Amino acid sequence: MGLLDGKVAIITGAGHGIGRGHALELARHGAKVVVNDLGGSVRGEGQGRAADETVALIEKRGGTAVADYSDVGDHEQCGALIKRAIDAFGRLDILVNNAGIVRDAAIWNMPPEDFDAVIRVHVRGTWSTCHHAARYWRAAAKSGETVHGRIINTTSGAGLGGNFGQTSYAAAKAAIVAITQTLAMELYRSGVTVNAVGPSGLTRITASIPGMGDSFEPDAVADDEWHAMDPSNSSPLVAWLASDEADHVTGQVIRSIEDRIIWMQGWKERKVIAAGQKRWDATKLSEVINQDLFETRAPGMRF
Ligand SMILES: NC(=O)c1ccc[n+]([C@@H]2O[C@H](COP(=O)([O-])OP(=O)(O)OC[C@H]3O[C@@H](n4cnc5c(N)ncnc54)[C@H](O)[C@@H]3O)[C@@H](O)[C@H]2O)c1
Repeated sequence: MGLLDGKVAIITGAGHGIGRGHALELARHGAKVVVNDLGGSVRGEGQGRAADETVALIEKRGGTAVADYSDVGDHEQCGALIKRAIDAFGRLDILVNNAGIVRDAAIWNMPPEDFDAVIRVHVRGTWSTCHHAARYWRAAAKSGETVHGRIINTTSGAGLGGNFGQTSYAAAKAAIVAITQTLAMELYRSGVTVNAVGPSGLTRITASIPGMGDSFEPDAVADDEWHAMDPSNSSPLVAWLASDEADHVTGQVIRSIEDRIIWMQGWKERKVIAAGQKRWDATKLSEVINQDLFETRAPGMRF
């Protein structure tokens, strides 16, 4: 009995890299998979049929999958993507939002169109698929069905602490955490959990960063071989989150780096300083803040 037998999953951006790893892993555990991928470049230009390659790999290994070439940045196409799963396999249980692009540059060199393109794919793409899937699961829950819906979004270290040259990508990945936490609240009563994973691996995206090394696809590494930067190293975590065993896990951000699962804890209060039932006086703030928070006057930055 597979962990995901009888489940139907959509994985966006599953033609390459980390998404392909998720698709292979979910299929291996018994899920029927809709492999979505627009098939463009790492910058999000053009389109192609990368999804077909992942479908062929799944079928070669005895699994069941169909390809879908929708652009997740387009709200209507996201609706059609959800419908594709229902038309092909009769239902939807798991939505993995993984599609992504990068257009890195320091802010003074970043054209506004590049900022918008990155936000469109990551933020609108995640929001739009969630919107359509939420409507489907809420209707099912309201009609008395027991729902074990799963949304697994994709964030990154850039969204959790910033990264030089990635204002667009970091903003997008932080927004995905906010979407995840909010949807966890909105959808739990309908039987849907919503979590975010922060994966790692040498993919087309990392290959676009100087010095990171060449990318390779997940199927280049045999299932019983270990490679620290295999793009599918986070896929077992995604398969578990997708299963009924993780019914109680929602609103979480979990990084998966090499062989480590890193459970994040979000923003925590570092220090609370009260003025004492009155407004603060700006001219007094230096004294109290430097004394309590910056004893050495070191800048409050982390590099
Ligand atoms: N590689 C890493 O170390 C790393 C680290 C943290 C987060 N991530 C995230 O993991 C996800 C997968 O990235 P990857 O590293 O595997 O890169 P990748 O380029 O190999 O895969 C991304 C896939 O998304 C697809 N895609 C892009 N725009 C799309 C659109 N509009 N509609 C549908 N599909 C679209 C691409 O065609 C591509 O196949 C991304 O969200 C990325 O931000 C990657």
